[in-house]
Amino acid sequence: MQKKIPTLIESFQNRTEQYKERVPHLADLCELIVSEPGLAAPVAEHGTWDKPNRLFSAVEYLLAKNPGHPLSTWDGDVRGNFRDFVARYEKELSLICASRKARANDPLVAAMLRPGIGFAQHWAGDRELALVELGAAAGLTLMLDRFGYRYGEAGLDTGRPLVLDIEVRGESVSYLGEPLRIGQRIGIDLDPIGIADADEIAWLRACSHDLPGQRTRIDQALAEAEEASPELVAGDFMAELPGVLAGIPDCRVPVVYEANVMCCLEQRAELPGLLAAAGRDLVWVSKDMPKYVLGLFTGDDLGEFAEAHGLVTAVTFRAGELEQVQVLAEVDGFGRWMRWTPTVVR
Ligand SMILES: C[S@@+](CC[C@H](N)C(=O)[O-])C[C@H]1O[C@@H](n2cnc3c(N)ncnc32)[C@H](O)[C@@H]1O
Repeated sequence: MQKKIPTLIESFQNRTEQYKERVPHLADLCELIVSEPGLAAPVAEHGTWDKPNRLFSAVEYLLAKNPGHPLSTWDGDVRGNFRDFVARYEKELSLICASRKARANDPLVAAMLRPGIGFAQHWAGDRELALVELGAAAGLTLMLDRFGYRYGEAGLDTGRPLVLDIEVRGESVSYLGEPLRIGQRIGIDLDPIGIADADEIAWLRACSHDLPGQRTRIDQALAEAEEASPELVAGDFMAELPGVLAGIPDCRVPVVYEANVMCCLEQRAELPGLLAAAGRDLVWVSKDMPKYVLGLFTGDDLGEFAEAHGLVTAVTFRAGELEQVQVLAEVDGFGRWMRWTPTVVR
């Protein structure tokens, strides 16, 4: 059954709770908008669930261009400053809300994917990996071997500026010591974010306003991307993937991975067949909700993981035959923690 699309007021009401812990100033503005809905006029006719995200992204985008406005510090009289900003820039905000959709590419998700890629390298032995990210946006996680990590007590020091920190619950994380041998980095996206396009990056930064440190992570990963030059393919990954896999030399093991993308994909049931059809050794790694990924490989049986919010899953294919399905970790939706629970489920 399709969920009912929320009204303008409901969309801001819903977001208040989600924002309270992470971005209290935006939670407060959601409450303000619920009592003064006219403040959301620029987004009233645009978007559905994403109305708050669109509006606040548009505000951040214009603030970056007008840093002198008192709202830009997000302190003092935030409610008053927000009223003033909306009144002053209502037309510009409406145009942005009408023409742009929110984008996301926080490298933080790499902290959840990295042990899965380590597993893939362990499985591949001394062969090089070809990373293929589905729904890559700007392709920032394709540089995950160039980031440092802290997993509770354990860490991975790459000597690079970006260090991702995640709380580990339960057992300590494995496969971190596996040196990655990355031979290729390919991202596929319907609408790739060009890392050399200053305006697209400004919009990505504006949309990245609901987790601490997001923009710094994006900037640091962009600097890595400038050096590592990942390849970005524009198109539907279900259509592009066979050609991309066929173009990867046999000596490399493709690691096809995704984060937060399968939920939007109507034909996701076709994905396991597509991976098998490549007829080669290949690893699939995913960070997503259980029903959107694990169920594809287990005939919808989610077993003990049915209630998990998110899972890191790894599936191996040997010469095109599905070999093993493994849940590596449970994770929360915001990159705050992971519970390492390697469990072979098929
Ligand atoms: C929610 S964002 C996730 C981006 C990134 N993976 C992350 O976790 O930050 C979803 C991305 O997938 C892309 N996308 C969605 N469906 C797609 C498809 N069928 N083919 C290619 N890209 C797709 C969108 O353009 C968008 O950049």
